[in-house]
Amino acid sequence: MRVRKAVIPVAGLGTRFLPASKAIPKEMLTVVDRPTIQYIVEEAVASGIEEVILITSEGKAAIENHFDYNFHLDIVLSQKKKTKLAEEMRHLSNLIDIVSVRQKKPLGLGHAIWTARNVVGQEPFVVLLGDDLVLSEPPCTKQMIDLFNEVQESVVAVQRVPQEETFQYGIVEGKHVKNRVIKVDRMMEKPAPGTTSSDMAIIGRYILEPDIFDMLEKTTPGHGGEIQLTDALLALSNKRGMYAFEFEGTRFDAGDKLGYLKAIIAFALRHPDLCEDFSEHLKEVASHL
Ligand code: UTP
Repeated sequence: MRVRKAVIPVAGLGTRFLPASKAIPKEMLTVVDRPTIQYIVEEAVASGIEEVILITSEGKAAIENHFDYNFHLDIVLSQKKKTKLAEEMRHLSNLIDIVSVRQKKPLGLGHAIWTARNVVGQEPFVVLLGDDLVLSEPPCTKQMIDLFNEVQESVVAVQRVPQEETFQYGIVEGKHVKNRVIKVDRMMEKPAPGTTSSDMAIIGRYILEPDIFDMLEKTTPGHGGEIQLTDALLALSNKRGMYAFEFEGTRFDAGDKLGYLKAIIAFALRHPDLCEDFSEHLKEVASHL
């Protein structure tokens, strides 16, 4: 079956980004000239996704508004003869069909995904975390869909991390079946130091078979009292098989202050109007360090 739908959970509290995320969703914080969430929706569109399901919560309306048509803005920009900008804003509101589902309590990523079950139905779907940015060509989601089309089983994106950082991630163990592709044997959520020799960390891109919803339904709250996606992923991998994929590209955790700053630098250096002046500026700053 084809992957047509993307679930993008944005219902988390964003505590790592307080106070910035107190009144503004962290997914609306700007990386160069657009909010983080726009890059993620654009990645889904560029990967051939036809429908986005946003998992939202109280205080996240700005995200829905960002992709909505703004009649007043359209009139004002047209009157001021800012035709190109008006066209850009219309394009943004027509990017893709977006459906919102509310996660009423922040019970964890697993629970957030479970709330999408009725809108997803019985088909494979991709999950893109609302605060994970990936710079890559082709887009990370497209690379994963290509692999899914080959293996017809769930695929999680992984990147290698230093051993001393594995306790911060969901970690995958398994065997390489071909270049960049690992058949998953075992998964652990935030493993205690010394409990795994694997350095393959799951990042915020997953293609999941709809069986995951049954697994999530049966998952009891784990680490931190939240319904952990990793526990349900492990059950799914035992039932049907799962692949981990070392995608080509660079991932930024834009929900973390340092990751967010790194993302701004990387995206600014790729921006056609800014890259030259910005890299000059960075060189100057570096010369004073
Ligand atoms: P994170 O743990 O990175 O996000 O979850 P968070 O909970 O918002 O942030 P901190 O840790 O408090 O700073 C990864 C993704 O899952 C979503 C978040 O919005 C984020 O995009 N999420 C998390 C939900 O949608 N619901 C939840 O209950 C938890």
